[in-house]
Amino acid sequence: MQKPKVLVTRRWPAAVEAQMAANFDVDLNSADKPLSQDDFRDAMTRYDAILPTVTDKLPAAVFETSPRTRILANYGVGFAHIDTNAAKDRGIAVTNTPDVLSECTADIAMTLLLMTARRAGEGERELREGRWTGWRPTHLIGTKVSGATLGIIGFGRIGQAMAQRAHFGFGMKIIVQNRSPVPAEVLARYNATQVPTVEDLLPQADFVSLHCPGGTANRHLINARRLDLMKPSAFLINTARGEVIDEHALAQSLWFGTIAGAGLDVFEREPQVPDALLNADNLVLLPHLGSATRETREAMGFRVLENLTAFFDGRAPRDRVA
Ligand code: 8YV
Repeated sequence: MQKPKVLVTRRWPAAVEAQMAANFDVDLNSADKPLSQDDFRDAMTRYDAILPTVTDKLPAAVFETSPRTRILANYGVGFAHIDTNAAKDRGIAVTNTPDVLSECTADIAMTLLLMTARRAGEGERELREGRWTGWRPTHLIGTKVSGATLGIIGFGRIGQAMAQRAHFGFGMKIIVQNRSPVPAEVLARYNATQVPTVEDLLPQADFVSLHCPGGTANRHLINARRLDLMKPSAFLINTARGEVIDEHALAQSLWFGTIAGAGLDVFEREPQVPDALLNADNLVLLPHLGSATRETREAMGFRVLENLTAFFDGRAPRDRVA
C-alpha cells in the first residue's frame, strides 16, 4: 500500500523527523522557512496530511481549492491559527497535541511570574551594562511571591499545572475563572476557589496568569477596562496567546503604573513586538518559549505521529479537535 503523503511545515526535532520519514512519504522543510498562503493552497492539492505549527496561518481562503488533504495534524495545543470551520466544511480533520506541553508551559509562566516580581530582567540588564554600583538595602526592591494570591484565567491542563506549582511550591492562594464550572475535586486539589467572572478575579489577585485559548472569542479579553480592575501592585503573565491582551492598553498601564508589571511569552503579531512594550522596564519578554524543551518538543512530535497513524489506520485520533 502506498504511504500517505505528508508535509511537515517547519523543522522538528531530529528524532521525530526520522520516525516520520520511516512511517510516511514525508516532505520536510529543511530550510525551516515559513510557508506562504499560496504555498498552503498548493500543498492542499498535493498532500494527504499537513502538519502545521503556530506560525502557519490557515484562514478560510486556504481551503478554497479542492483539497487532497484529509487531516491537519497540528504541532501544538493551540490551534486558533487554523479556521476549523472551513476545515470541517471540507471534511478535513484537525488534531492538536495537548497534555505533553502542560508542565513546560506552566514552568515558563512561573519563570515570568518570578522574574517580574523579583525584577530579574531589570537586574540582569543593569549588571551586564556595567551599571551595578553594589549592594544596598533599597536596591531593586521587588514583590514577595510566596503566600500571594494568584488569579488563573482558564483552568484547563496548563492552568492546573500552574496552580500545582504556585500552590505547592510557593504557598500561593489560588482563585480561578473558567468558562465552565470546574469540578469540586479539581479545585480542592489546589485549595482553589472559582469566581464567576474575570471582573470578580482581577481586583483580588496579586498575580494574574492567562491560560485560556486564543482566537476571536478571547481577543482582547484583557483590555483597558479590565486592566484598570487590577491592583496597582499586581502583575499580569501571559503564556496563552498574544491576542488575549490588548497590547496598546497594556503598554499604557505599564507606562502609567496602573499595574506593577507584566511577563509575556506570546504576542499579537509574532515576531513583532511593539516599541511601547520593548521600552517598558517593568516588563519581562520571552520569544514564545512555553514548550521549548527537548523533551516536550519531541513529545509533541510523537503525539502528532500517534494522531496521524491512528487516522490513516482508520481509527479515531485521540486529539481530534475538529
Ligand atoms: C508551541 C504553543 O510553541 O502548543 C502551543 O499552543 O503555544 C507552543 O507550545 C507552538 O504553538 C507550536 O505550534
